[in-house]
Amino acid sequence: METEINSIESYKNIYQKSITNTEEFWAEVASDYEWIKPWNKVFTGSFEEANISWFNEAKLNISSNCLDKNLKENGDKTALIWEPNNPNDATIKWTYKDLYIQTCKLANGLKSLGVVKGDRVCIYMPMIPEAVASMLACARIGAIHTVVFAGFSSSALADRINDCGCKVIITADAFYRGEKKIDLKTITDEAISNCPSIEKRIIYIHSNEPLVWIHELDINYHELIENQSNECKAEAMDSEDPLFILYTSGSTGKPKGLVHTSAGYMVYVGYTFAQVFQYKSGDIHWCTADIGWITGHSYIVYGPLLNGATTVLFEGIPTYPAADRNWEIVDKHQVNIFYTAPTAIRSLLAYGESPLENKKLDSLKILGTVGEPINEEAWAWYNKHIGKDNCPIVDTWWQTETGGILISPIAGITPLKPTFATLPMPGVLPILVDEHGNTVLGNGVEGNLCIAKPWPAIARSIYGDHKRYIETYLTIYKGHYFTGDGSKRDADGYYKITGRVDDVINVSGHRIGTGEVEDAINEHSIVIESAIVAYPHDIKGQGLYAFIICNANYMDEYALTNEIKAIVADKIGAFAKPDKIQIVKNLPKTRSGKIMRRILRKIAENDDSNFGDTSTLIDSSVVESIWEKRK
Ligand code: WT7
Repeated sequence: METEINSIESYKNIYQKSITNTEEFWAEVASDYEWIKPWNKVFTGSFEEANISWFNEAKLNISSNCLDKNLKENGDKTALIWEPNNPNDATIKWTYKDLYIQTCKLANGLKSLGVVKGDRVCIYMPMIPEAVASMLACARIGAIHTVVFAGFSSSALADRINDCGCKVIITADAFYRGEKKIDLKTITDEAISNCPSIEKRIIYIHSNEPLVWIHELDINYHELIENQSNECKAEAMDSEDPLFILYTSGSTGKPKGLVHTSAGYMVYVGYTFAQVFQYKSGDIHWCTADIGWITGHSYIVYGPLLNGATTVLFEGIPTYPAADRNWEIVDKHQVNIFYTAPTAIRSLLAYGESPLENKKLDSLKILGTVGEPINEEAWAWYNKHIGKDNCPIVDTWWQTETGGILISPIAGITPLKPTFATLPMPGVLPILVDEHGNTVLGNGVEGNLCIAKPWPAIARSIYGDHKRYIETYLTIYKGHYFTGDGSKRDADGYYKITGRVDDVINVSGHRIGTGEVEDAINEHSIVIESAIVAYPHDIKGQGLYAFIICNANYMDEYALTNEIKAIVADKIGAFAKPDKIQIVKNLPKTRSGKIMRRILRKIAENDDSNFGDTSTLIDSSVVESIWEKRK
C-alpha cells in the first residue's frame, strides 16, 4: 500500500485507504522501522474501554531507530546543529555517530547509578545537545523521561517530580536566555529538598561558575560519562511500554502527566514529520520550540532523528542580541524548514522589516506554525517577508495528548487557506459534535472537535490517574476522543481551529490552566477568591485577566499586584503571570455558587455590548460594579 504523499490525489487515496484499511495502512508505515520482534496485531482496544494498543507484542527501541539505524549509511551526517544563546560562542555540530556515542555513554552512566527500565528520570535542561542525548539515553535503557521546561519554577518542578516519582534528575549548572541567567542549580536545590524520590542529580557544567556540590546527591555529567563505553545495547521495549511522561495543564486540578508509549508514538511521529514537512534527504530542519514541550519532543528530537534529518537546536531567544536573530540563524545554517509559533511571528512582525535587511532567507523551502490559531496579519507577514511568497506554510494543529500532528496541510501539496489547519493526516478521523453530543454532518458547520478513531500516537493514560484520563478525554462524547477545541469545517471540508472551549488558556503558545493560576493566587494571605479568564492580546494571542477578591485590610493595589505576580512566578513560572489584575468586591456567581466566566470574559475583553442572561446570578449588580471599575 502506498503511504508517501506526493500529490493531492495521492493524499486523497492514501487518506481513504487509511480510514478503511487502518491496520494495513499503519503496518505498511511501520515496516520502515527496525523491530526487534514483529507485532502480532496492529491494533486492539477502543476509546470506550480506554485500552488503546498499537503493534501488539512487538519489541523495539526508539533510540536505536533514531541512531543505530542511521549509523549504517549516515554516521557522518550532521544530526544536530547547536546554536548558542550568545552568537559569539561557537556552534556545535554532532554527527549521528557523535550523538550515538554521547547517548550510549550517558545510558551506561545512568545504568551505573542503578537506573533500570521503568524508572522515571526528570530532565530539566537548557536547550543544549546533552538534553537530546539525555532523552535518547533514557529511551535506550527503557527509563521513562519526563522533561520539564526550564522556565518552570522550583515548586512546579517539584510537583512534577513527585507526581511520577523520579529517581534521578539531569540538569545543568546555569544558562542564559538572552541576557537573563537561569540558575538551574539553585532552582533544583530548592525543588529536590521537597522530593524524597530523587536519589541522584546529574549536573552538566555549562556556564562554568563555582558550584557547591552536595555530597551523596550530585554527580558531574562529564565525570559520569567520561570512562563509559561507547556502546550500550538498547533495551527491547514492548510496544506499549511507556516512553515518556509529559505534563500539561487541564481546566481543573493539578497538571496531568500524559503517558506516551513506544511503538505507536515512534511510527506516527516519524511518519508525520516526513509527510507534513515533505522532508527530503539533506534538509535542515529548525523547530524553535523548547524540548520541554511536546513540539520539541516530536519535531526537534524524535521526528527528525527517526528520518535521519539534521535538526537545529537553539539555546536563546529570537530577540537577542537583536530582533534579527532567527533570520540570522536561518542564513547561517541554511535552514530549509522553519517551524515556529504564531506568537513568535507576531512579536517579530512588530519590529517591522528592518531586521530583515541583509538577510537572504533563500534556503527556506517550507514554513510551519503550531501552538495556537494564527491570525490573517501574522500569516500574511510570514508568507511575504519570510517565505517571499514562495514557501508553503503548514498550520499544524495538534496537542500534547495527540503526540504528533493531526490536522495540517501537506507542504506544497494541500492547497492552502490562510488560518486553516486544513485536512486530517492519514488515519485521523475528525468529527464535529454539537452541545447535545450529536455529530454535525456535512460542510459549512461548526462544533466541538473530536477524533472518532484511535491513532498510534495518542497518549494512553494520565500517569497514576487513568480515571481522570477517561473522564477528561473519553467520557464527554462517548466513543470519541474530545480535544477541548472548537472548530469550523468550511464548504471545502477544511478545518479551522477556533480555540479552546474549556478553561484552558493559550498564552504565547503556552497552555495554562485557569485553575492552576487561581490556586497559586489564592495562596496569598490577603486573597479570598480569584477568577482568571482570557482576553485577546496582540502578541501573546491570549492574555490572562485576573479578578481578585481580597479581605478588607489589603494594602495598596500596586504592591498587591506585584505580589500576586510574584506568587504565580514562584508557584508555576514567570510565563503564567497574569497580564491584568482587577481587585473586585464580588464575583458574578449563580445560586449554585458557580462563577459566570462568560460575563467575566466579556468584561476582560472590554465589551459591554451583551452580558447575556444575568437572571441566574445571586446578585446581578456585581456585574455593573465590576464593569464600572474596569472602565
Ligand atoms: C492546544 C494544545 C501541539 C503543540 C503545541 C501545543 C492549540 C495547537 C494549533 C493550531 C490553532 C492550535 C489548541 C490545542 N493549538 N496547534 N495550529 N491552530 N490552535 O500543545 O500545549 O498541548 O496545546 O494548542 O488549542 O488544543 P499543547
